[in-house]
Amino acid sequence: MQVASQQPLIKRLVVVGLGLIGSSFAKGVREAGLAEEVIGVDLNEQSCQRAVELGIVDRCSTQLLETCRDVDVLMLAVPVLALSKLLKSLAPLDLSQTIITDAGSVKGHLLKAAQEAYGYLPKRLVPGHPIAGSERSGVEAANADLFKHHKVILTPHAATDPEALQCIQALWQGLGADVESMSVEQHDLVLAATSHLPHLLAFGLVDSLAKRSENLEIFRYAAGGFRDFTRIAGSDPLMWHDIFLANREAVLQQLDQFRGDLDALRNAIAEGDGHHLLGVFTRARAAREHFSTILAQRAYVENMLDNDLIFLAKPGGRVNGTIRVPGDKSISHRTIMLGSLAEGVTEVDGFLEGEDALATIQAFRDMGVVIEGPVDGRVVIHGVGLHGLQAPPGPIYVGNSGTTMRLLSGILAAQSFDSILTGDASLSKRPMNRVAKPLRDMGAVIETAAEGRPPMTIRGGQRLTGMHYEMPMASAQVKSCLLLAGLYAGGETAVTEPAPTRDHTERMLRGFGYPVEVHGATAKLESNHKLTGTRIEVPADISSAAFFMVAASIAEDSELVLEHVGINPTRTGVIDILRLMGADLSLERVREVGGELVADIRVRSAKLKGIDIPLELVPLAIDEFPVLFIAAACAEGRTVLRGAEELRVKESDRIQVMVDGLTTLGINAKGTPDGIIIEGGQMGGGEVWAHGDHRIAMSFSVAALRANAPIRIHDSVHVATSFPNFLALCKQVGMRVEPEGQV
Ligand code: S3P
Repeated sequence: MQVASQQPLIKRLVVVGLGLIGSSFAKGVREAGLAEEVIGVDLNEQSCQRAVELGIVDRCSTQLLETCRDVDVLMLAVPVLALSKLLKSLAPLDLSQTIITDAGSVKGHLLKAAQEAYGYLPKRLVPGHPIAGSERSGVEAANADLFKHHKVILTPHAATDPEALQCIQALWQGLGADVESMSVEQHDLVLAATSHLPHLLAFGLVDSLAKRSENLEIFRYAAGGFRDFTRIAGSDPLMWHDIFLANREAVLQQLDQFRGDLDALRNAIAEGDGHHLLGVFTRARAAREHFSTILAQRAYVENMLDNDLIFLAKPGGRVNGTIRVPGDKSISHRTIMLGSLAEGVTEVDGFLEGEDALATIQAFRDMGVVIEGPVDGRVVIHGVGLHGLQAPPGPIYVGNSGTTMRLLSGILAAQSFDSILTGDASLSKRPMNRVAKPLRDMGAVIETAAEGRPPMTIRGGQRLTGMHYEMPMASAQVKSCLLLAGLYAGGETAVTEPAPTRDHTERMLRGFGYPVEVHGATAKLESNHKLTGTRIEVPADISSAAFFMVAASIAEDSELVLEHVGINPTRTGVIDILRLMGADLSLERVREVGGELVADIRVRSAKLKGIDIPLELVPLAIDEFPVLFIAAACAEGRTVLRGAEELRVKESDRIQVMVDGLTTLGINAKGTPDGIIIEGGQMGGGEVWAHGDHRIAMSFSVAALRANAPIRIHDSVHVATSFPNFLALCKQVGMRVEPEGQV
């Protein structure tokens, strides 16, 4: 029965070839009412009959030429090599008003066949390829939903009529497919790598094992791995025979490259080179996980930014319990960087498995460093020494992570190879001249996009010279970048900061046995020393703990213990500021772990009051201001922040974005060029925007504890960059924040 759910887009569709794809397309178009009439053509009379019986087509014929009259769209769903003959037999017909499309896996071959048949490329030819299928075949397997949420790649040629392209696009979209377009050449190369090569390997492996005399034995013991790897060897042999012959050049190119890699694996096994094996396996595992998230559309890749993840924070609640927030982001980045440049192995526990820190791992893997994990916060880095990094295969993508880009640029400026650093849309707006300029003064060759924005293109093979740099702004990223460049620069590199900033780089360099001198505001080192692998325990991140410090302070009847929090004196501005506001915070079990102070922090509800935030505390609480503004909104009286213009160039303009959100919630908040003025008051609910900034999304989640209506926080996807289990911990302590749709 036909259940038309859409307006017909065309009058008559003819589908030639009623295999799985052809009959599924016909059935889908017919059921959705996208064509007034759907006609099938198949050489097999029985298939024709079944197709009508099963409601796949309105009618069906074995006679191609007779059927192809007054056709709006002609879908050629035959095996790839049959296309050539088919197009030749169609060529004498007047099909000038007909759009011809196909569903084959090879596009270059189709264009060649069309060129041969017509002597030119018909304007109404729209090559297409649905990335969907099943091991089942024929009309009996027809499935109107086969293409739903699957990709269809269209590869228009230079003269393809835009109207024809649009019509085919609309038909596929009507079947629920995601339509993309790319060039014919790119399509054939990409598919050779991602589809054709794996099929070749699966067919080849099964045959190779099956033809051995002991095959019965082998197959009897072939369990999960064999089954998973060879599932696709059950595909249609004729169809795949056609694909390999039609896409010869691209497949050979991919196959030869893979043979090289396979030989390298063989050599590694033969020579007992476990390092090579571990490198391949750890990289593959990470890549596979990354692909899985892309396939599930959960990755941090750029197009994710289009997906608006909304947090819905319900008003009220208490905050109680004992939790440990994830590892420190700044320290986690540095363990990978210094561990990679060290000689020997570095073992890390408590590593932050957030996307920013994972981006740093990926960057060093791209440069040949073998890094195991992270598994439950444990990472093992097989250091390559200061001069052991290799050229990355392409641009290094660091996602949302400003720390990765700025610190890495210092290391890359001194390498023998060229490199390019790129980031996501938010990072691409952030200033890089603050590192590019002093690095150039040391002899680096660096280009940026307009106004010093990423990407950064760094030329290798430069000799850097140490210098004494007076930083114009209080930035630990700039200081760290220059100290890292200083590991390679001739002579001495010294950096003086205008106010104290986090000193994890200096501390950790020493932990790796590298001498660093610190006198007052100046940190200084010389090249020609080495780093030696070590063990590091990363404390919980005080910047993540800050959300819960404010939460337990502002919510009634609350008492929360935050365990094992890093309280490095260059990071504790948030504690000092909250105490000045009247918060009840106590530090318990203060101890030193691996050169960093840690403590358990007990927080009880308190009545907060507005304050003038002391200037000297600003750099020591730089990442915690968004949530401190929430504390200020809940405090009695006025809070004034000055000297914090840096907040305008973080993952978002944190002053403007917080002013906008607080104003929406009914709080009197005013931005100034270098700070904010907030009058405490009663918060209402409403719609606020995090602008893809993790700390803004988490701050407004905390605000709901004192709001009198729900707060919907748009653009919250980036919380995973620094605090992947934020929502789970919220739930654990009694806060009611959930992604919308799962409430
Ligand atoms: C960081 C330094 C700070 C901070 C950032 C991490 C670091 O940036 O905001 O989240 O790890 O060095 P600036 O140095 O730019 O202030």
